[in-house]
Amino acid sequence: MEKIKVFISRQLPITAEDLLSQADFEVVVWQEEYPMPKSTLIEQCQSASALLCTGIDEIDAGFLEACPHLEIISTFAVGFDNIDINAATKIGISVGHTPGVLTEATAEIAFGLMLSVARHFLDTNRQIGKGEWKYFIPTKNLGIDLKGKTLGIFGLGAIGFEMARRSKAVYDMNIIYCNRNINHDAEKQLGAKRVSMDELLSQSDVLSVHASLNADTKGIFNKGAFSKMKKTAIFINTARGGLHVEEDLIGALESNEIWGAGLDVTNPEPMHPDNKLLSMPRVLVLPHIGSSTYFTRSEMARLAAENIIHFFRNGKP
Ligand code: DGY
Repeated sequence: MEKIKVFISRQLPITAEDLLSQADFEVVVWQEEYPMPKSTLIEQCQSASALLCTGIDEIDAGFLEACPHLEIISTFAVGFDNIDINAATKIGISVGHTPGVLTEATAEIAFGLMLSVARHFLDTNRQIGKGEWKYFIPTKNLGIDLKGKTLGIFGLGAIGFEMARRSKAVYDMNIIYCNRNINHDAEKQLGAKRVSMDELLSQSDVLSVHASLNADTKGIFNKGAFSKMKKTAIFINTARGGLHVEEDLIGALESNEIWGAGLDVTNPEPMHPDNKLLSMPRVLVLPHIGSSTYFTRSEMARLAAENIIHFFRNGKP
């Protein structure tokens, strides 16, 4: 019997390829380090029944119309804003993603950004490199104490919950959140309080973004939003760069409307090396490393492969 062909658009932890091969699929992997051009991805998918892609592949209506024979698209990511779900559903292509396995790793990056910005990790490291560490200056490099402060979570799903849990445990932070639905676990376990967007903006000492990117959330952190935040607030985004408007964030930092920012996501990605945010004080930008641990990436590979295996065995990812 002919094997079912799976095309993988990026070299992933070996788990994915091994699991699919052991389950008797034919596996073809894009071997280059640079991302696949869309036309090549379409070409490669012509003879495949399943695509294992990543968050950087643009799976839009054009791609889906060119590959309507695909039975499943499994993405190596929890976010699927790069996939036109409506178009896939209309054509009848199933979509799988990798929730759960990257929750801890991503929350850790949000927590790390919060602490790093609050205590000037990057600014002070740069000072040493520039020979500016000359004597003890009691009034220099003063940071923000997080203990007892208010953490605002925008989008209280699994990752937002983990960020809140850590912040409560370590700094006894007061948790407020803005979310479509009530999160009963967060309210019960962490004493979290659901508030309006305006309350979230005006009351948060640290505002951490964990929502998915969609038509409702795109650019929601803009000039108007930043102007409602505390002058001492820290803005953290580990979700998607499209949720904040970059030039408005730069403006808010420059005009001291907010105190600092920590970003693991930018718009576009990769961020240009000349970007102003990279040299601003109290700003730390990371290159989208939320899920980047050995264990987490390997779990994501396992889940992305298993979504395909389950789909062909049981009819759904
Ligand atoms: C995800 O899985 O969505 C993370 O952003 C990593 O891409």
